[in-house]
Amino acid sequence: MSKSEKALIVSKIEKGTVIDHIPAGTALQVLDILGISGKEGYRIALVMNVDSKKLGKKDIVKIENRELNPEEVNKIALIAPTATINIIRNYKVVKKVKVQLQEIVEDIIRCPNPNCISNLPREPLKPKFKVVERTPIKLKCIYCGRYVTRDDIARQLR
Ligand code: CTP
Ligand code: ZN
Repeated sequence: MSKSEKALIVSKIEKGTVIDHIPAGTALQVLDILGISGKEGYRIALVMNVDSKKLGKKDIVKIENRELNPEEVNKIALIAPTATINIIRNYKVVKKVKVQLQEIVEDIIRCPNPNCISNLPREPLKPKFKVVERTPIKLKCIYCGRYVTRDDIARQLR
């Protein structure tokens, strides 16, 4: 088999989204974040633990006829900070975005501390965390100082 044939693990898609460079073993969490169980009927290709020049190993998710909104892209950045999102139309990559994890994560996940000021009813404070570690990700609530781990994030986002 030629090198290019070997490289193409699943066929190209006509239209939709390819999420590439996902940390190896975490593609199912990415689908979880998107609320995709498989029952929605989208044609999906899931590739896990394949060789990657950049990452050593990586996962890929291809979803036909589905594009992602900015909120979904921000969530993916928390769980798969190396990911590249490719929008495909007519078999061509029309947009390629590398997800970005900012210094501050605002209004995406809640603080796990029930007494945190950001969890008080009718309090207009948006949950806000400082990124204190990137791999593995660790956040710190700017209001109460509570740390949030990758597992906490994955649990909240599914
Ligand atoms: N892809 C696809 N269907 C298409 C076009 C692209 O499934 N019609 C997939 C490719 O297989 C690849 C990803 O989308 O996994 C990005 O495509 P492309 O930009 O052509 O690949 P690379 O140049 O290797 O991407 P990068 O530079 O981001 O690594
Ligand atoms: Zn807090």
